Amino acid sequence: MLLDIQPGDEVIVPSFTFVTTANAFVLRGARPVFADIRPDTLNLDETLLERLITSRTCAIVPVHYAGVGCEMDAILAIAQHHGIAVVEDNAHGLFGKYKGRYLGTFGCLATQSFHETKNFTCGEGGALLINDPQYIERAEIIREKGTNRSRFFRGLVDKYTWVDVGSSYLPSDILAAFLYAQLEARDQIQARRQRIWHYYNDHLQDWATANDVRLPIVPAYCEQPYHMFYLLLPSLQQRQALIEHLKGHGILSVFHYLPLHLSDMGRKFGGQPGDCPVTEDISDRLLRLPFYNDLSEAEQVSVCAAIKSASLD
Ligand SMILES: Cc1ncc(COP(=O)(O)O)c(C=O)c1O
Repeated sequence: MLLDIQPGDEVIVPSFTFVTTANAFVLRGARPVFADIRPDTLNLDETLLERLITSRTCAIVPVHYAGVGCEMDAILAIAQHHGIAVVEDNAHGLFGKYKGRYLGTFGCLATQSFHETKNFTCGEGGALLINDPQYIERAEIIREKGTNRSRFFRGLVDKYTWVDVGSSYLPSDILAAFLYAQLEARDQIQARRQRIWHYYNDHLQDWATANDVRLPIVPAYCEQPYHMFYLLLPSLQQRQALIEHLKGHGILSVFHYLPLHLSDMGRKFGGQPGDCPVTEDISDRLLRLPFYNDLSEAEQVSVCAAIKSASLD
């Protein structure tokens, strides 16, 4: 809404992401143009952007997968060259950094998620980060049901009224309080998640090498917020077998994302098999391990032992 997207405008999103990334724009009538991802970080492949840009492209949406920063130098340079907005989907990346700068501060706009799966959560919720001040006033109006109530609270008008389109995009005070307490405990929460991530990484390294399994890649200039730990199995069949094996040990492991360009909606926008080969391949092979703030070391010992007891042939 802030970018004033018109029906027929195009927005470049990675195919390897959650539906929300595309829906936010499709709700305004935009057409998502699906980009493939890099095989290392699983982030939007910036080298493909130039060929996807048209005269209708109005935004590029880098998703910082697992909180590992996209190649923002290259993405911003391309966007600037073409006069296109960058909107970061930073759902995974709160407190992550790219070359020393916080994720969510690169695009004119960035989104956070406080969904139950995230490091900091209020069950359902999110935030819009506004880095370009030209959007602030209208953003306040849109989130206040299209009224200038924020100006009224500041004493800038003596009553508030309906001035624009909008909806009720505010979290309740109860949800905000629940979330705020976690943000106050940010250091403890992040320290725990760091320990959990490194435990998996250290204890699965040799097993991964021996079984042709790939662990996450984090470039040296990216500080990750320890959102997720995943394995890339050699094949779909081995991934499914490991899920079943872990289930037998009472351990829930999950896969994601199904390529958006091959979903029913994605196909309506022209998506075809083969459009995003890396996404199609990774989507079959990725497995997420249990990862939550109070996962204990004893539980991680069990998870790693169960993984190592699986037959991956
Ligand atoms: C990359 C990405 N973007 C957006 C979202 C959605 O956030 P929400 O459900 O809070 O809209 C998620 C997951 O929840 C996600 O993984």
